[in-house]
Amino acid sequence: MSNTDKDRVVIFDTTLRDGEQSPGATMSHEEKLEIAGLLDDMGVDIIEAGFPIASEGDFRAVSEIAKNARDSVICGLARANFGDIDRCWEAVKHAKKPRIHTFIGTSELHRAIPNLTMDEMAVRIHDTVSHARNLCDNVQWSPMDATRTEEDYLCRVVEIAIKAGATTINIPDTVGYTAPTESADLIRMLVNNVPGADEIIFATHCHNDLGMATANSLAAVEGGARQIECTINGLGERAGNTALEEVVMALKVRGDIMPYRTGIDTTKIMNISRRVAAVSGFAVQFNKAIVGKNAFAHESGIHQDGMLKNSETFEIMRPEDVGLTETNIVMGKHSGRAALRSKLENLGFELGDNQLKDVFVRFKELADRKKEIFDDDLVALMNTASDPESERLKLTSLCVVCGTDGPQEAVMRMLVDGVEKSTTATGDGPVDATFNAVKALFAHEARLQLYQVHAVTEGTDAQATVSVRLEEEGRTVTGQSADTDTVVASAKAYISALNRLLMRREQTDVGYDTKGVSYKDVS
Ligand code: KIV
Ligand code: ZN
Repeated sequence: MSNTDKDRVVIFDTTLRDGEQSPGATMSHEEKLEIAGLLDDMGVDIIEAGFPIASEGDFRAVSEIAKNARDSVICGLARANFGDIDRCWEAVKHAKKPRIHTFIGTSELHRAIPNLTMDEMAVRIHDTVSHARNLCDNVQWSPMDATRTEEDYLCRVVEIAIKAGATTINIPDTVGYTAPTESADLIRMLVNNVPGADEIIFATHCHNDLGMATANSLAAVEGGARQIECTINGLGERAGNTALEEVVMALKVRGDIMPYRTGIDTTKIMNISRRVAAVSGFAVQFNKAIVGKNAFAHESGIHQDGMLKNSETFEIMRPEDVGLTETNIVMGKHSGRAALRSKLENLGFELGDNQLKDVFVRFKELADRKKEIFDDDLVALMNTASDPESERLKLTSLCVVCGTDGPQEAVMRMLVDGVEKSTTATGDGPVDATFNAVKALFAHEARLQLYQVHAVTEGTDAQATVSVRLEEEGRTVTGQSADTDTVVASAKAYISALNRLLMRREQTDVGYDTKGVSYKDVS
């Protein structure tokens, strides 16, 4: 990557910062490290690993990701004050290639929050960017809400940041308000008017509130931006951020009209998409571009006929280009450990011997109940692996009695800190009865925010993947489980969410969603 390579678009992934900031998408420390490793592997140029001042947990994750990084630049976020910037540097300095990203809201609405005049804010920008540049050679500066900032003022502050040493200037569309032509024009205007603009890289950071994030990012590239900020699956607050897989594949497939390159190995897209969906608890919609379950499915007769004659009739990219292998019946209960390892490796999972042993046991249990095991079943199995060390609650048995006249009844046994307890609870349906049983065995105040069921494959013996999101005192957590029995999957997902909540309670730090530090505060 060099500033002279004018057709190279740098991919800046913020799944672990802007994505993780989405209420309910909180990831554990290990999950963050795993996702960072996958991003590094797929050729992401810059990983925004977190917001180090936000919590001890964020600081630790960014530091560790920085230590482990191989090729990617590791970036941390900091508000426009010396304390944030120093803390950010402490975390990213371990990386071979560190970056500090500092920002302040520059639109009239955002200037009102710290109550700074235009001149006072200009001084703050100069001082904080200079401070960051004294610590680190690679400094990114963002005028938050740039697309609603007065153009004259935007030019003025961008020039100040460049003079103070910023090497990348990011132009965020914080509230997803801009449209493609405007997005291109704004970057073009800055490139043409700001002294020093040719010395730095302009970045685009779009939110998807009007469904235009991908189009706006690509238009910004037409206007002169050479860094796109994005997240896997478009994860992010509200309607999310620009989806990495969409901009990368658009540039790859339509190189004829958008002659730009990225360094992404697109065959790694499906695997990381599945992992981010699993660890964030945010399932990918079936008809989502590139990574949705139906993105490469051709069901209508006309389509199928055309596909059989020539796949280009209806396909503009090959499933293999995004790492999608055909969903075959993989194995049954007679399949061995070596075959399972090899199949999982094909699906992108590298397993140690102990992990393989654990997955093999669960695979056999599943094979006893389900004749045909598909790739998606294995992915679900992998994505719902639990960590017995951190589990204070564990379901030992569940029996639900259903009748047309209700109420339904759930008889449950559960280990609570190693002690087995049992209860019988009723409810309005089998899932309600089951959740009431969990509440009776382990009293808590957490509120159920989301209960979602997806069939992993087709057929009446299909596994159900269940996601449960709970909220307690501003902490939001998601638990997931898969089982051929939807009610058992529901119970396990609920219990998994509770285990995560207990872990979060134990952590002394405040997470993002408790917003002990809001990124809207400046000092
Ligand atoms: O959307 C936004 O403005 C941001 C900034 C912190 C860059 O995420
Ligand atoms: Zn953002």
